[in-house]
Amino acid sequence: MSVPVITVDGPGGAGKGTLSYSLASQLDWHMLDSGALYRVTALAALTSSTDMRDESALASIARGLKLNFVPAAEGLTQVLLDGEDISLAIRTESCSAAASKVAAMAEVRAALLERQRQMAIAPGLVADGRDMGTVVFPDAPLKIFLTASAEARAKRRHLQLMEKGESVTLARLLETIEERDARDRNRLESPLVPADDALVIDSTGISASAVLDTVLWEARNRQLIR
Ligand code: DC
Repeated sequence: MSVPVITVDGPGGAGKGTLSYSLASQLDWHMLDSGALYRVTALAALTSSTDMRDESALASIARGLKLNFVPAAEGLTQVLLDGEDISLAIRTESCSAAASKVAAMAEVRAALLERQRQMAIAPGLVADGRDMGTVVFPDAPLKIFLTASAEARAKRRHLQLMEKGESVTLARLLETIEERDARDRNRLESPLVPADDALVIDSTGISASAVLDTVLWEARNRQLIR
């Protein structure tokens, strides 16, 4: 029998990470943070001064990544690249911007595809990203598309960055979120769109626990879990 996968797609800051982590820990399933793969590819390219327009060079970096994901404190995963902890370095605004460019490249996406599929290990996988339900796991039995207004997402991101000591204004964040949304939605390769059979949830003004309850209810309804 194939391993059950719940896909969680949507724009940045909609609460996908929180939902995916809560689902995976509640069900005791594995979790794939696919955005981290694009972020690590971007970081590796930036640190090796690779030309960010050289698609083949970037794809070759993506193919060769020696990565480990280690569960850390609640809700956090340590990301190790060649054994070095890069969890914080991949979350900066400059790495986010580079990741969004790298993620638009077909060769890079192809280089990361099999690595993502191999993460579907029993008893199940919660896959967080942009194209989990449309491209990577098109047969997933439950697909969630989690969205929220750009303003709500900018506010959430602002709080997260302030907690980490990064200083960005809310207005600037809103601008970059809208820019990144447009790039993710309009790119030719795996654009950010809900799968035809996705359940679309708008989390604006809804608590994370209410979103989790909706998804768990749906998973039970589809007999994915008891
Ligand atoms: O979810 P995130 O912010 O960590 O993702 C980083 C970048 O990678 C973002 O620009 C969207 C892109 N991405 C993607 O194109 N496909 C995915 N499956 C996951 C992320």
